[in-house]
Amino acid sequence: MVISKSEQIPSLLQDIKAHGLPWQVLGGGSNVVLPSALPGVTLLIDIAGKEVISSDETETLIRVGAGEPWHDFVQWTLAQGFPGMENLALIPGTVGASPIQNIGAYGSEVAHFIERVEAFDTQTQNFVTLNNTECEFAYRDSYFKQHPGRFIITQVIFKLPKVWIAKLSYAELAKQFANQTPTPQEIFNAVCAIRSSKLPDPQVLGNAGSFFQNPIVSEAQCNELAKQYPAIVSFPDAAGQRKLAAGWLIDQCGFKGKRLGPVGVYDKQALVLVNYGGGSAQNILGLAKQIQDKVYETFGVQLQIEPNIF
Ligand code: EPU
Repeated sequence: MVISKSEQIPSLLQDIKAHGLPWQVLGGGSNVVLPSALPGVTLLIDIAGKEVISSDETETLIRVGAGEPWHDFVQWTLAQGFPGMENLALIPGTVGASPIQNIGAYGSEVAHFIERVEAFDTQTQNFVTLNNTECEFAYRDSYFKQHPGRFIITQVIFKLPKVWIAKLSYAELAKQFANQTPTPQEIFNAVCAIRSSKLPDPQVLGNAGSFFQNPIVSEAQCNELAKQYPAIVSFPDAAGQRKLAAGWLIDQCGFKGKRLGPVGVYDKQALVLVNYGGGSAQNILGLAKQIQDKVYETFGVQLQIEPNIF
């Protein structure tokens, strides 16, 4: 069922409950692994609308319906003269899904721009508002992700600071714009180009983006691994911890470009599993298990699956 207004949700859920049916929520469907049929009722969140609710000399607040496509929204903010989110261009999915896994790419995360999130709490049967702190954002994580099935996100309120600073920490952006002062639109274009060169378009080749999170290990474990594998790719994380590039670990295990029946590992980025057509959730999860086992056997690091498995 398509939900185009928040107000539809409480009575609809009551009806579903009265009929004793299971239910689940989908946004854009770009970060999920689905079985061939879902039980009961599937709610497709299609709440539209983009509205500037306030703007002063320091920041602009924008309220956006959960069903708005993420990339179109980022493009719209730039066209309106509200830069900031250009590093997050071309991420598939909806605005409402963006806080759940705290989407991030090329040196930025959506958590930096979220003022608050409005949702229906199916546990208390109330509409609730969670501010940025209450969302408990972390790397590919949030309060919503920690409480699966509890919240139906209806609106997201973004805060874009008036002072714009180019984010060029991602190596390829830094290289491309060395000794230059790029505009937000130039960064947006560069991010779109980098993304298209590394990641398959889900409209063309089925995929859910990065299939695993980049694992966070202690500095001591990272140093041990680096002794054995001097080329290992890692980035600083919270104090005493480092984030390993899962794509590098998988690549080293020889999986890049490998096919297993109708599914496989993308040949330009080992972190992405692809469905060449007709592959089932079982096929994808079977391949994921092979990768997890081999990476653990080789490096002693456990990879966590990133998309939602239904
Ligand atoms: N690498 C390899 N082989 C590979 C893939 C990667 O050696 O097959 C190495 C690269 O050379 C690089 C490092 O691993 O040194 C990191 O690769 P990359 O910059 O492509 O980024 P990533 O860590 O693999 C993360 C996000 C992406 C995001 C990019 C860019 C996660 C799980 N993934 O990927 O997010 O676009 O950084 O910021 O954090 C997503 O979440 O769906 C997603 C695509």
